[in-house]
Amino acid sequence: MQETSLDKVPSEDRVNTEERLVAPESQLGENYDHSLRPERLRDYIGQKEIKENLEVFIGAAKKRGHALDHVLLSGPPGLGKTTLANILAREMGVELRSTSGPVIERQGDLAAILTNLDSGTIMFVDEIHRMNRVVEEVLYGAMEDFTLDIIIGEGPGARTVKIDLPHFTLVGATTRAGLLSSPLRERFGIQFRLNFYEPEELKSIILRAASLLGIEIVEEASLELARRARGTPRIANRLLKRCRDFADMETSGIITQALVETSLSKMSIDLEGLDQMDCRILEALIVKFGGSPVGLNTLSAAVSEEKDTIEDVYEPYLLLKGFLQRTSRGRIATEKAYKHLGIEVQEQVQKKLF
Ligand SMILES: Nc1ncnc2c1ncn2[C@@H]1O[C@H](COP(=O)(O)OP(=O)(O)OP(=O)(O)O)[C@@H](O)[C@H]1O
Ligand SMILES: [Mg+2]
Repeated sequence: MQETSLDKVPSEDRVNTEERLVAPESQLGENYDHSLRPERLRDYIGQKEIKENLEVFIGAAKKRGHALDHVLLSGPPGLGKTTLANILAREMGVELRSTSGPVIERQGDLAAILTNLDSGTIMFVDEIHRMNRVVEEVLYGAMEDFTLDIIIGEGPGARTVKIDLPHFTLVGATTRAGLLSSPLRERFGIQFRLNFYEPEELKSIILRAASLLGIEIVEEASLELARRARGTPRIANRLLKRCRDFADMETSGIITQALVETSLSKMSIDLEGLDQMDCRILEALIVKFGGSPVGLNTLSAAVSEEKDTIEDVYEPYLLLKGFLQRTSRGRIATEKAYKHLGIEVQEQVQKKLF
């Protein structure tokens, strides 16, 4: 699989300035650790339904000798969208070209990419929701009819040129399927939303990574790490590596349950896998706003965190674990959040909300 100059892929190389240990975004340096990415569908752990369906779609496309239909992968960061795109190319036996939504600035950029593809090639567009609308409109035709309508020149002399394209497969990844315009979304024949992983699945991912990296970890320790990894493989792998650091520096080098507990508590990750920012969000909802529903702008200002990050990174997991609820009037902390933080629910809040 060839990486090209188009590979300015910011999502993979994104530098997270405020390095949170449980941040699901990839952090500087981690993108070089390709060794942990499963390369075949059979090694991709979890997401059972997606895998089963993909096996059929890949098998059928190969049998017919056609390119795979366009695929849209959505879901929170770190759940394996980029990994899956790479696997698709490998399973189809085709080349993968990677780029990302914001990198394709002009129609011409898109034309240059598309006209240079071979038939069957997978063009992976990360952060596809951040693509420029003008470029997006050109993409519609390319996806549907494999033609490009390009306007050459300006003013009265301008003319449209139709270019035939090879039958490529567009694989788009997004953390925000909701931000995709519906004409674009509708042009993806295959659409999957990745779910958070179960602790047992994350445990398998951790044990696989440990064996690849030559890390010794006892089974209960891997389950404990799995429980605190926010349902996210990227976080599971990261926590494993940090625990290895503690194990190497402070003990025999073997990761035990006790070591996981002390290491995670030193890194301010609590029993539910919540970190300081999660707790700050919940505390703000409970203490600062007295349990009343809070809008995203207000919450973002109160905890000094970007709105997008709150929506993409923190909320999905807090919602999944039942610590937070989104109502029509705003976000509220649930009774479970009060209990978790050891704050008593005031009577009037109880009456109003629960
Ligand atoms: N199903 C899986 N089985 C094993 N490991 C996985 C799986 N999914 C993801 N991983 C691991 O998690 C890491 C992060 O996955 P990946 O980069 O594909 O996430 P992503 O969804 O593309 O995230 P982002 O939205 O930030 O781009 C990978 O490097 C890989 O090691
Ligand atoms: Mg990615």
